[in-house]
Parts: sequence; C-alpha cells; structure tokens
Amino acid sequence: MSEATLPPALEALLARMTLAEKLGQLSMLSADFVATGPQLSPDYLEALRAGRVGSLFNLWGRERVLELQRIAVEETRLGIPLIFGFDVLHGHRTIFPIPLAEAGCFDAALWERTARRAALEATADGLSLTFAPMLDVARDPRWGRMAESPGEDPWLAAAFGAAKVRGFQGADPAAPDGLAATAKHLGAYGAVTGGREYASVEVSERSLHEVHLPAFAAAVGAGALAVMPALTDLGGLPMTAHAGLLRDLLRGRWGFDGLIVSDHGALAELVVHGVAADLAEAAALALGAGVDQDMMGRAYERGLPAALERGLVAEAQLDAAVRRVLAFKRRLGLFDDPYRGLAAAAPRQAAGLDRALAREAAGRAMVLLKNEGGLLPLDGGARRIAVVGPLAAAGAELLGPWSAAGEGALAVSYLEGLRAGLPNCEVRHAAGCAVEGGDASGFAEVRRLAREADLVVLCLGESAALSGEAASRADPGLPGLQRALAEAVLASGVPALLVLSSGRPLIEPALLERVPAAIAAWFPGHEGGSALADLVSGRVAPSGRLAVSWPADRGQIPLFFGRRRTGRAADAPGAVERYVTGYRDRPDAPLFAFGHGLGYTRFACRDLTAAPARVGPEATLVVELELANEGERAGEETLLLFLRDPVASSARPLLELRGWQRVALAPGERRRVRFELPPQAFLLPGPDLQPRREPGRVEILVGPRAERAALLSTWVELL
Ligand code: NOJ
Repeated sequence: MSEATLPPALEALLARMTLAEKLGQLSMLSADFVATGPQLSPDYLEALRAGRVGSLFNLWGRERVLELQRIAVEETRLGIPLIFGFDVLHGHRTIFPIPLAEAGCFDAALWERTARRAALEATADGLSLTFAPMLDVARDPRWGRMAESPGEDPWLAAAFGAAKVRGFQGADPAAPDGLAATAKHLGAYGAVTGGREYASVEVSERSLHEVHLPAFAAAVGAGALAVMPALTDLGGLPMTAHAGLLRDLLRGRWGFDGLIVSDHGALAELVVHGVAADLAEAAALALGAGVDQDMMGRAYERGLPAALERGLVAEAQLDAAVRRVLAFKRRLGLFDDPYRGLAAAAPRQAAGLDRALAREAAGRAMVLLKNEGGLLPLDGGARRIAVVGPLAAAGAELLGPWSAAGEGALAVSYLEGLRAGLPNCEVRHAAGCAVEGGDASGFAEVRRLAREADLVVLCLGESAALSGEAASRADPGLPGLQRALAEAVLASGVPALLVLSSGRPLIEPALLERVPAAIAAWFPGHEGGSALADLVSGRVAPSGRLAVSWPADRGQIPLFFGRRRTGRAADAPGAVERYVTGYRDRPDAPLFAFGHGLGYTRFACRDLTAAPARVGPEATLVVELELANEGERAGEETLLLFLRDPVASSARPLLELRGWQRVALAPGERRRVRFELPPQAFLLPGPDLQPRREPGRVEILVGPRAERAALLSTWVELL
C-alpha cells in the first residue's frame, strides 16, 4: 500500500499536532453557502478557529476564500491552510452540457477544454478541489445521476475520465489555476438496484472489473489527486468501508497515493447501513479501508478517539491519513502560497462567461434523433414558428443539475436563442403547461399558436431538479401533462420538432414515433438556446451521438449494448424460435442505439481492413476503412470501433467499444480513416480477473453506432 511521504518540515509539523488537530485535518465541513446534501455543521467558523477542520466545501468567491484562508493560516495554532472543494461537474460559472451529453461528443480535446475552463473559473473563485469527474457507468435511466455520468460504456468513461482529470488539474496542479480532480464514486454506484437512489448494489466481481472500475483506473492513471467512494454498498459492504477496493486495489495494486475523501456524511452512515454499532466502529472501518477525509460526518472527530481507546485503530493509521492530507495540500502548493495567487492586488478573475465554448459544446452535444423528410435545417425563408412547452422559455432549467456557481439568469433559453438565430422567422411562444402538475389551462393558447404556425418547436422534458442526485424516477418519461400537450400540438397537423431536455433518455416511444423530427438537447448549459438555433438554422450540422442506449420501453431497463452473448442467442446454431433470449411482448433492441445521432448529410462506409492479420502480443493493430460523404451538405461522422471475441475464458459482450474517430467531410468528399489499436485494447479480465490477453480469432467491427447491422466487419487472429 502506498504511503505518502512528507518533507522534514511537514513531518515536524505532524509531530507537533495534538489529537484534536489531527482529527481536524481529517474533517471536511460544508460552509453552508449552498446545500448539496443534508446539512449538519453550520458552526464551521468556530471549528475552523479551533483547528478542528482541515477543509471546507460548498463555498466559493475570492473575498470569502481569502478571509477563511486567512483565519486558517493566521488564527489557528498551526496555521495549516484549508482545501476549498466544490462540485464543479460541468462548468463553474460558465455551464457546459451535462457530462452525459458531453460524453456523446466523443471528443477528448473538447472534454479537456471545458474542464480547463471550469478550472480557470473555479480557481479564480478560490477553489482548489473539485468533486469531479463523476465516472459511474450508468445503464439505468431511472437513476437520476445518469445525468452526471459519461454514459453506459466503460471505454468511453475511461477516456472521458482521463481527459477531465487533465483538464481540471492542468499541467501542474500546484499552479494557481490547477484544480485537483476527484474520481467519483468508486465503485459501481451506477448499478443501484432498480435505479433507486442510494440503494444497494449487486454486481458480479467480473462486471465490477470489466464495466465499473476501468474509468477509475484511467483517472488514477491520468494523475487524479483524489478519489471518492460511493455512498452505496456493494453486496452488503458499504464502499466507505470497502478495504478490498480502497486499500488493496486502489492504493495497493493501482498505487494511488492521493486523497480518499468520503462522500457526504458517509462515515456516520456506516451506522445506518448497519455495519457499525457506533461512530467509533464506523470511523475505524473507514480509516482501516483507507478513507483520509470525512466529508461532513464529524465521524472521525467524534468516533476516532473512542476507536483509539478501544484499540480498534492504531495511532500510526491515523498519522498515515493525516500525512496524506498534508501531502495533498503540499501538492496543491498550499504550503508555499495558501492563497494560490488570489491575494495578488489584481484579482485573477476569469472575465465573464466563455459563451463561445459553451455554445460550441452545447451544439456538439445535442443529438438529432430523427429528421423525417429533411424537416431540418430550416434553410432561410421567413416562417412562422411556435416555440411551445414548459421548457421553451425556461433558460435557468437548461443548466441542469450540479450547476455550481452558474447563474440561471445568464442562460439563453430556446425561445431567446431561436428568436435571435432565426431573424427571418416570426417566433411566437406559449408554455402550455408546467413541467409537472395538472393544469391544462394553457393548452388552448398552444393549440391556437400551433394552428397558425408553419412549424412547432415543442420544448419538453425534465426540470433540472428532476435529474441528478436524489432524483431517481420510476417512470423516466415526460412528467406532468407534457405528453398530452404534445398530443394537442400533433393533432393540429403542423410539422413539429420535439426538443427534449433531460438528464436521461426519456422513454416516450409513441411520441418519438409520431413527431417528424426530434433533438435530444439534454441539459445543454448556458448557451443551449443559441446552440439549438445553430442546428435548426443549419449554421452548424448536428454531430452529437448517444452515450447511452435509448430504451424503446421501460421494461428493457437496464439496457446497454455490451450485453454478453447467451447460450440461447437467436442466431445460435439450432436455436428454436420460442426458446431464445428476449421478450415476448416487446422488442429487444433500443429505440436508438448507443452512438446514434443524425446529421444533415449521408455517410457511407466501405472497404474495412485490419493489419496485420496475425497480431503479436506487442503489435499495434491498424484498422482502416473508407468513409464517404454522399449527401449535399458538409457534416461530421463519428465512427465507432468495436471488438467481439467469440471464444474466450468467459462469455464476452456482443460488442466491446475500443475506439472512435470523428471525421468532417465536405459533400462528395471521401477519406480513408485509420484506427490504431494498442496491445491494451485486447486485454480482458481472465478467470482471476487480472487483465490478460487471450489468443484466438477476434472480430473487428466499425460503423456509426452499436448496432450489428450498421457495422462493417473483419477478423484478425491474436497470437
Ligand atoms: C453528495 C454527492 O454524492 C457527491 O457526489 C457530492 O460530491 C457531495 N454530495 C458533495 O456535494
């Protein structure tokens, strides 16, 4: 297990610390500036002066941070600087699309740029730590936190996590604009039973290693300075006490020597889970598992003294945790400059919002789900457009959950964006109904506007509060009267563009079947309205893709493309019609597959090759194919590369994502696209769950989405 080492001056500091001061370094309290969970500690100022708190979260702002840091440095006995943490998930002041949406851009450079911008803004506001990236693979749209996650695929989540860590932390986390990243929530939180928030998790060891852990390994590999265990239990053992994963795997095998910070109140919750009788046992379990910092719970402060007395923990264990906290502060440069450049006369304030980046990211994250008869783009010409629905003018909702210091009033609503972006159109508006609730008195006005329009833009979906933490929904469709509103609009016979805002794929198969055009806008952030206008007008071609399969029915949940092959596959030799995997009453396939997303042109793939045909253990496999833009407009295609291993020591998923390429082509242009698969792309967990390479034939498949019929295929042999 990796131990943090300190320079002599900090070792001397540790030696001078009282027990209370050590416990203080292990405690992180909320400054109750915003609430991100149950509030327990409004007395943080008193605790701070007494040296009983080592870190604060949930506050930002140069003046406030300077003052609190001054108290820590000048008014406490040892003068140890504070860490300031906050949930900067998808932007700090400038809010970008939610992670689920941004992941679907399949663009590591963009993921990194938005994180870098967030770090610039957050550190200018005095923050040194973000509780992001959130890397829980999510396959159940009932779970509200799918919004925060990079979606259903482990390979995508890993690339997303590494890019976010690079973006947040920058080249040097100790630089004034370096923001320490926290990979959260280890592990398998996304698999909560029934999609119920905070529920138990039951996943196999194999799925844990194949699906849920790779993104954390990637984030740690990219240098993430902190990791947060999930609030949930895994097969009965709460993650906060999971020595096997935290101590043996994360610290031991992966060599992680950064900070393990608990989730909100998670230590005290060990008692509620029923694995500790009191705070002393809870604190001993968490410390033994390797948790360094107790967010909000006061369990270390209250429980560790008794745990020490009872011999449940040793002083050396406590010191090891304090050492890691001090080492973390040192890595952030806090002992050299506790104010991290903020005290300089000229405030290092990032000027305004980065609206250009927010608009670019939002436009690229929106997914054109369908577009019958080429309804979009509108291509000039004056038209009368009715922009209706409860989310049409609700700019603040477009920020979505965890919008940090983002101001709702600064968001561009769909209505504002379309008015500004379609100057030749007459844009009229009525909401019709609220997101939730049963008041249909606004329907008549919407009906009237629809009848008088050439196009209706139907802005439906979830409010920000219906998504994110503690927002699981048993029926993840349109809430309130929105379905009925859509029916009223469609009855007018006027063409409709459905714009869905949500933190999850909304399960509305009948509506999605009926509307001619639909865009999944997710929660697009501050520039959502401008970005929508860019797509609708055709100034920007849609290029967003789904990072999650879009179910055709609630009963299909959990739904994901990486299912294992079963012994009763429909295409198995000798399969007997009735006795094959699937449902009798519903299709097996999603409504829209992972990777789905239309543009305004047509692409065709041909001539897939892979070389060498026999791939040695050290060799890189080169896969190539030709991509042609056969339509009349420019566009960008995202090609996904999958593996399929038909015979291995365990039944493998039907498709395993191993890479992607985004290619922009002018009309009529064609290009040879090249992928390089390094040896690690062929590793799979063997019988002992250790990564290994298994020789044999492997199918290589490339195409626009995770749907067998849409993929070209070839074979290679692994030696
Ligand atoms: C609870 C959430 O689970 C976690 O993701 C977040 O970082 C903390 N609250 C702090 O806000």
